[in-house]
Amino acid sequence: MKKNTDESIYTKTKYENSCHLTKKDIEIALEEALKKIDENLAVFTHQFPSESSINNRYVPIDNDRGWGQGFWTGILWLAYEATGDERYRQVAELQVKTFETRIEEKIGVNHHDMGFLYSLSCISAYRLTGNEAAKKAALQAADHLVSRYREKGQFIQAWGDIDDPKAYRLIIDCLMNIPLLYWAAEVTKEDHYYQKAYHHMRTTVKNIFREDFSAYHTFYFDPETGAPVKGVTHQGHSDDSAWARGQAWGMYGVLLSYVYTKEKDLIDLYKKVTHYFLNHLPEDHVSYWDLDFMSGDEPRDSSAAAIAVCSLLEIDKWLDETDPFKKIYQNAAKEILKSLIERYSTKEDPNSNGLLLHAVYAKPENLGVDECNIWGDYFYMEALVRLLKDWDLYW
Ligand code: GLY
Repeated sequence: MKKNTDESIYTKTKYENSCHLTKKDIEIALEEALKKIDENLAVFTHQFPSESSINNRYVPIDNDRGWGQGFWTGILWLAYEATGDERYRQVAELQVKTFETRIEEKIGVNHHDMGFLYSLSCISAYRLTGNEAAKKAALQAADHLVSRYREKGQFIQAWGDIDDPKAYRLIIDCLMNIPLLYWAAEVTKEDHYYQKAYHHMRTTVKNIFREDFSAYHTFYFDPETGAPVKGVTHQGHSDDSAWARGQAWGMYGVLLSYVYTKEKDLIDLYKKVTHYFLNHLPEDHVSYWDLDFMSGDEPRDSSAAAIAVCSLLEIDKWLDETDPFKKIYQNAAKEILKSLIERYSTKEDPNSNGLLLHAVYAKPENLGVDECNIWGDYFYMEALVRLLKDWDLYW
């Protein structure tokens, strides 16, 4: 187990200087992103971009498997909010119908990623336009997610068949799926959604963070007793390392649980998890695919950086002016985003149909390595929109 260290002091030194990123820079970055979205709107109206690109180009897929389709619909809702242009809304609404069918007919949903799929496509539709069919689909997705809750251990099982004892584990990513349940509790006034989300969150934070607040990717429990067994990686460098995107899911996920529960210890936890992330960034502030690497030729994961930026922009809403880290987080968010805009965006790559280059899906499987991925694009857009308008969460 890694040693407990107070990393806050390094974070402070690293990000004490203000970053020069102007409103104009962000507006230009958004215009560039919208240009790419417009170029691809026709291809990705009835189909969706693949999870990761091949030679920096997404290929069209149907809404019938995997966990990534919601990101593209989420990008369209963000584009609609940023511009008011009805074209984005019309395409997003067509896509919402495919999410309705998918959950109604339980197509490709034998997993926990209901939040990634339904928060960004359907909760957003409901919040922005009052779409009742989208609300119903999101509630069906919430019901499906709670069906994966395991009483023994009190967590939501990530992958695999629900009666498979070898699949008895949670993964850190699921902290981004449970806001769907908090939302379902709010709209239905049915407390069981909240309780399952809450217990899953508490089981996760108790087991998934090491003493130094780096995160395991996945954590196993004993199916007979529910006792914690061990942390194991799936997409990271090793069982002892912090997979960069997992750490970023932890940052944003812990914070979203704070937003819904208002339990103060989660702010403290957010800071510790975030300090680990920030202290393991290389010179240009964009993480390698695993935080074990801070220099050298390993690939970057720009998507982890984009997720982290969104969490740093969200925490700003919850810290008062006297908090010693408020400015540090503002500076860190802007430094990372500036680097993404200048060195990782596709603005000078006419070949690519994505928004952010140099991301990794799953290095151990050699899947989507040094490619665009659709969640990186989504969080990049979310970050830009957050900085230009008063944005309300879809999560
Ligand atoms: N949630 C899966 C991933 O981040 O790759």
